[in-house]
This record gives sequence, C-alpha cells and structure tokens, in this order.
Amino acid sequence: MEILEQIAREAEENTQVPAYPRSVEKVIAAVMSSSDFWKIVDLSDEPLPLVAEILKLLNKRDLVVFEGDQILLTEAGAELASKAKIEPFASHVCPRCKGRGVVIDDLKEAYEKFLKIQEERPPAIHQFDQGYVTPENTFARVALADSRGDLRGKKVIVLGDDDLMSIALALSGLPEKVTILEIDERLVNFIKEVSDKYNLGIDARVHDLRQPLPEDVVGAYDTFFTDPPETVEAIKAFVGRGVATLKAERCAGYFGVTRRESSLDKWRRIQKVLLDMGLVITDLIHNFNEYVNWDYYEEMRGWQLTPVKKAPEDIWYRSTQFRVETVRGFKGFNEPIVGDIYNDAESSTT
Ligand SMILES: [Fe+2]
Repeated sequence: MEILEQIAREAEENTQVPAYPRSVEKVIAAVMSSSDFWKIVDLSDEPLPLVAEILKLLNKRDLVVFEGDQILLTEAGAELASKAKIEPFASHVCPRCKGRGVVIDDLKEAYEKFLKIQEERPPAIHQFDQGYVTPENTFARVALADSRGDLRGKKVIVLGDDDLMSIALALSGLPEKVTILEIDERLVNFIKEVSDKYNLGIDARVHDLRQPLPEDVVGAYDTFFTDPPETVEAIKAFVGRGVATLKAERCAGYFGVTRRESSLDKWRRIQKVLLDMGLVITDLIHNFNEYVNWDYYEEMRGWQLTPVKKAPEDIWYRSTQFRVETVRGFKGFNEPIVGDIYNDAESSTT
C-alpha cells in the first residue's frame, strides 16, 4: 500500500534507521494489541527510535492519537488496518519455559541461593550501560549452556558481568573454573565478597574491555558469556574478545542481541561479523533475555524520542540469545578499541 511505503520512507529519512512497509505494519499491529508505548516497542520488534518516529507520522496523518499516555488507533487508522489486512499480534509462547526451551528445575537449590544473594547487588548505572536480566533469566542461561555441554568440566569466562552470571555459574557447581572481567569495581568487589562467603572460587578482576585482554586469559577457556552494547562495532569488539579467550575449535560463546536497538539490516551485518570471525550460529532464541527495568530510563536517548511520557511498567527490553561455536580458522579480536562504539542511529538506551 502506498501510504505504508510513504511512512516507511519518511521514517527512514528522519531516523536513518532502515524502514520497510512491514515495519509500519508491525507498529500498527502492535497499537492494535496495546496502547502502551513500551509494549508497542516490545511487540513490534523494530528499533525504538523507528517505532517512535512511525507513531509520530501515523499521528500526523490522523491514523493514531495520543490520549494522555495512551496510544490509540483512530477510526481512519482502523480502516487502514482492515484494508491492509493488518491484525493484532497472536502469541503462542510456551508459558512453562516462556519460549526459552529450557527450565531451571534441576538448578533449584543454586537458584534459591542466588535469589537471596542478588538482592544485595549494586544498582545498575548508566555510565556502564548496565541493564541486567531477571535472576530466572540468568539461570536459564546456565541451563541452556549446560544443555549444550558447555559447562561441565569446562573453563568459563564472563566478559562484563551486570547479570551476575559468574555467581550463577559457580553456584551451579558445574564449571571447573569461572573467571570474570568487569570494568565496574563495585560489581567486582561484590562478586569477590560473595565468592569468599560461599567458597565459590571465582576469579574476579577489574578490567576495561576496551583494552586488550590480560595475557593469561587469551586462548585459555572453553566457553564465554558476554552481553555487548548493540552496535556492530561493539559486537565485533566484545564477542571478538570472547573468541580470543577460547582454546580451540568447537568452543562456544553466549551473548544477547536485541531487536529494540537493531533493525534487521543491522542484524544482517552483525551476523556477517560473526561468520567472518569463524563462528557458526548454532542457536538463536527469540526474546530469551528480559531486562529488569532500570532506574535511569529518563537519562536514556529513548526517553527523548517517546511520543508520550510514561515510565515503563512491565519488562519491555528483551533480547535474542545467541550461541556461537568456533570452527577451523576462527579468529578473535584483541586490538585496543578506540572511539565511541556504544552509539548508532538505532541505539536508544545509551
Ligand atoms: Fe516450553
């Protein structure tokens, strides 16, 4: 339809985020499913800056209205949806595992301990882009990695540990060794204290991942976890660091990539970076990761872009869980990182 194409073109011009008629369709479908801005971003699976712009353009054409903090389709909007055969989203996600494909029943004892421990964690701070996932989510990652044979008897490294993965891994008792490198001294101190108290033997070090890795961690691990910022450069740098810690072929890495800050065009470039590093994407699980709402949302770029000012109430920021595995010819990235790798046109939480 002409109008969907027009809106897509205009939205792309204004945001520099790739947009298609399908992007506009998804935003309309999301508005048909919810009046809440954050839920609309969540459901549409388009980058936040693009969703905000499309909503403004729909509003300009009287297809959508902003009433208080509600976003609603107008009669003309409903007519367009009907003509374009756009329908509200349907969900068939498994309620037991929330679509993750794993449950944490067998890790229950460690999980209960973790729940108590994480209550004392230092709060997320904007400076380090520290949104973190729910405790259940952290353990689901442990369950996933264990299901793939990446933990038992393995040396595991966590690069940046906002999620306290290192504590969850060590509490599970599965890995032979757990190391973390983290820029935030508060977190490292917290992890060290917990490690001492529960006798977990976590090797926790303060390290700025923009700098090359300490020599003794290069080529020394079987499995890595990281949660990189959402630019192609940052993913190359942080996943590249992870790959540089791996011993050999057929070692694994875990990280999340979101649709909230990435168009599919950007995803394609991200996937190419991964393939070019000699990695195979073995698993890609939609909305596996759900981030606890953080306190600094008013400081983030996304807040300036929202057409209605309403604090997020439910979890809206989710990411797809990637598992990659090295094959012959793989090559990590351990050069110093210079310049701003945290921001691009699609980012919204930095
Ligand atoms: Fe399930």
